[in-house]
Amino acid sequence: MQIISKGLKFTYNKKTEFKRQALNGVDLTINEGDFFGIIGQTGSGKSTFIEHLNGLIPVESGELTIGEFDLSVSAQKPKKAYKERLKLLRRKVGMVFQYPEYQLFAETVFEDVAFGIKNFFPEIEGEQLALKVKNALELVGLNYYEVKDKSPFELSGGQKRRVAIAGVLVLEPEVLVLDEPVAGLDPVGKRNLMELLHSLHGTVLKTIVIVSHDMDEVSENCNRVAVFSDGVAVKVDTIENIFADVDFLVKHGLELPLTAKIKEDLKAVGVDIITDYKIDNLIEKIYKNYKG
Ligand SMILES: Nc1ncnc2c1ncn2[C@@H]1O[C@H](COP(=O)(O)OP(=O)(O)OP(=O)(O)O)[C@@H](O)[C@H]1O
Ligand SMILES: [Mg+2]
Repeated sequence: MQIISKGLKFTYNKKTEFKRQALNGVDLTINEGDFFGIIGQTGSGKSTFIEHLNGLIPVESGELTIGEFDLSVSAQKPKKAYKERLKLLRRKVGMVFQYPEYQLFAETVFEDVAFGIKNFFPEIEGEQLALKVKNALELVGLNYYEVKDKSPFELSGGQKRRVAIAGVLVLEPEVLVLDEPVAGLDPVGKRNLMELLHSLHGTVLKTIVIVSHDMDEVSENCNRVAVFSDGVAVKVDTIENIFADVDFLVKHGLELPLTAKIKEDLKAVGVDIITDYKIDNLIEKIYKNYKG
């Protein structure tokens, strides 16, 4: 499913004195197969944008299509048909909010992961349901038999987050959208979760969209990136072009990934390394070129 946003605008608290225009005309395309990153300073509209992608925030102005689903204002009527389509869309586009572990609520991990299925496919139960829950937990690297009867609150932070992701994957979406998936995790937890997302991409998920402040996460995983500023996607490009433009990143208050910093430092002493922004590739290039 290709995601196309044209001139998307959104204002919070429109009719009050607290009104705040969060999106100012977002133009961008996310292709099927992308591992797409959305970066930008705090308050630039990243979360507001992605909450449009499964209809959580209804389109107010501009156009938004997700594959065959038109979410634009003109397509929101009749209301009943729109709601039916939204339900279908929400199975295809899974959404993992920031700190999803705070949304775990059931008494057991099993119940938590099964919740979406019970909601969308009440006819699935018994062994069939158990199999789906088992698959979803295994996809996120958890042992079904070890965790299924535990309370989610007995798990570590990283494990809880995996359970929350399993609760979305259980519906077998095509697209997974995650708002700051590694925020608040320690470096090992971060790396593990990044590797998990990497392994899901192109296997069970066609497309992944992440919002991130972590440039290493973005440079390691994403192929394309949108930079948000003041409610607009000011640049949509490949990872190579985004991180090669250091002045642009600085102007928008963004950090460089570690690999870009190393490349910049080497450039300053006259060594120009040509590689992408993935740490393993950079290390290999340096090692090959400067062995001995
Ligand atoms: N529920 C809300 N009510 C009113 N204003 C809001 C609401 N949510 C966000 N905003 C405002 O809309 C703008 C965009 O917010 P948004 O949360 O989309 O930014 P963001 O890029 O995700 O930021 P961050 O990196 O801090 O998560 C900000 O000015 C924010 O204050
Ligand atoms: Mg946000």
